Amino acid sequence: MFKKLKILDEKNKKLRMISKDVVFPLTKDEKEIIKNAMENLRFSQIDEYAKKYDLRAGWGLSAIQIGIDKRWFIIVDEQEDGTFKEYFFANPKIISNSTEKIYVEQGEGCLSVNREVVGIIPRYARVTIEAYDMDGNKFQMRAREDLAICVQHELDHLQGILFIDRIDKKNPFKDADKYRAI
Ligand code: NI
Repeated sequence: MFKKLKILDEKNKKLRMISKDVVFPLTKDEKEIIKNAMENLRFSQIDEYAKKYDLRAGWGLSAIQIGIDKRWFIIVDEQEDGTFKEYFFANPKIISNSTEKIYVEQGEGCLSVNREVVGIIPRYARVTIEAYDMDGNKFQMRAREDLAICVQHELDHLQGILFIDRIDKKNPFKDADKYRAI
């Protein structure tokens, strides 16, 4: 049966915690939580289910957003053929990045920020991330463009940082001409 996630709102101080390393092997309960979170993100991107369960469309989610202060996040990425690719990253770190920076022209979004926020955040256009999968195997992944931005947004959550913190309050479109918009 589908279990809708309770996602913490930006006002919740827990979101400001610095998450701790994931310890392997994952427990059965942890795996269940992760699988359920994946399903929530997948359903949120399918109109029929999004309506049925009143889900806001989300692409990435960090453990802390559901109150778990562990260093993991997931990304559920719809492919061109309509299937979904599910990513799980535990104890992730960026091991290399492009010098080029980009930003989302329409602004980033977050399931913990339930309001319109104006402004941009320059992020690396490409990153190589090293992390552990659900079985505790180390892997590397190269992410580019919007996926790279998503990874950096989620990494921020693990440090207690929200995207709204990174927007220049006085000049929300600062440096827009210096970086590439996507
Ligand atoms: Ni977020």
